[in-house]
Amino acid sequence: MKIVRGFSKLSRAEKIEYIQNNVPMVADLARVANHYRHETNQALFDDFSENTLSNFYLPYGVAPNFLIDGRMHVLPMVTEESSVVAAAARSASFWAKHGGFKTTIHDSIKIGHLWFQWSGDAKILHDLTSELQIYLVASVKEITQSMDGRGGGIVDIQFIQQPELTNVWQMQVSFKTADSMGANFINTCLEAMKEPLANYFDEQNLPTVDIIMAILSNYTPDCLVTCEVSCEVEELAPYSTGLSPQDFAIRFQLAMDIAYHNTHRAVTHNKGIYNGIDAVVLATGNDFRAVEAAGHAFASRDGQYRSLSTCEISDEGEFKLSLTLPLTLGTVGGLTRLHPLAALSMEILENPSAEKLMSIAAAAGLANNFSAVASLVTTGIQKGHMKLHLSNILTSFNATPEERERTEAYFSDKTVSIQKVREFLNR
Ligand code: MEV
Repeated sequence: MKIVRGFSKLSRAEKIEYIQNNVPMVADLARVANHYRHETNQALFDDFSENTLSNFYLPYGVAPNFLIDGRMHVLPMVTEESSVVAAAARSASFWAKHGGFKTTIHDSIKIGHLWFQWSGDAKILHDLTSELQIYLVASVKEITQSMDGRGGGIVDIQFIQQPELTNVWQMQVSFKTADSMGANFINTCLEAMKEPLANYFDEQNLPTVDIIMAILSNYTPDCLVTCEVSCEVEELAPYSTGLSPQDFAIRFQLAMDIAYHNTHRAVTHNKGIYNGIDAVVLATGNDFRAVEAAGHAFASRDGQYRSLSTCEISDEGEFKLSLTLPLTLGTVGGLTRLHPLAALSMEILENPSAEKLMSIAAAAGLANNFSAVASLVTTGIQKGHMKLHLSNILTSFNATPEERERTEAYFSDKTVSIQKVREFLNR
């Protein structure tokens, strides 16, 4: 296939034709792409990205019974992974009977950097920092005005040298972005500060500042939430399948400790947490890549990648599960209101503030984490997964309702595989 020029300028039909003509494997692109387009609202979806041919559907589900900080919520969740919503819902019902999820927002500071090269004396820059702070904040007043009015804006500016690189500095700007995720606001402010920063040094007859780039950091260790659940060990009986609640609690804690010490296990453990978090993040039109990137960096903050959640069992027999992680989320701006289903999610969540959404997403993460580890130390996860897997296999075979019923009954106590289901259906 040759390099194609001006592809984005082609009409949608021409783009489809180009792919049909150049990728021989593609059998029926136009029909499939057309089938999944929206009848009345397609222009809106087309505008979210470039070269849009169609829409990619994912299930939009809900998990009820989330008692978070004393208030009941139904959580919208978008995920392709069968069992995530069911696991969240089951866990939420269980914890609602034991006080629910309790959350603390530690802070919601976000950071951005203006990177530059400068050959001057570090002491001069440190001495000038206070003056520069006032000057630079004033230089972007027009941009920050409305955010200042909403309780956000620039909260600090510091100059920090990057010791490994010659004359490389960061101007680190700390922001509060109220109910927006803030990426656009932060990047706009940073870019607008480039010229004033360079001019300031020229006017002071100091060595010239050579700006390299201006960009927010997706690492947000000061935008943190903690979510906790607790109950008496005795009360864990509904999850302790085949074990006493005490044995279950001990094995559960050991599994958590393994995830703390072992990176291979920690990654999978944290993936189980993000099963819940990403589903809420997607359903609310937020940026799951930013959320994941920050979380995984935070999981490595002491130099080793570790689990994000911990478990304690007190001498008095209290079982406590806790999750702390960075979450940068918005409830205004971006796709949060533009995408009709994200807007619907905000309604289902009763128009939360960004901080409230942090609490909600963290609760979804802890709910899924609890369910996953509970299954792992008892029945294993395949039993639950396979039930839903069977349903997907039956759908792929276009099974009739009667075939479905008989196959599900037959496999209720057997291991599921595509081959075995095919054989059963053929028989
Ligand atoms: C699967 O999507 C998630 C789990 O692997 C999480 C875990 O192992 O804790 C079950």
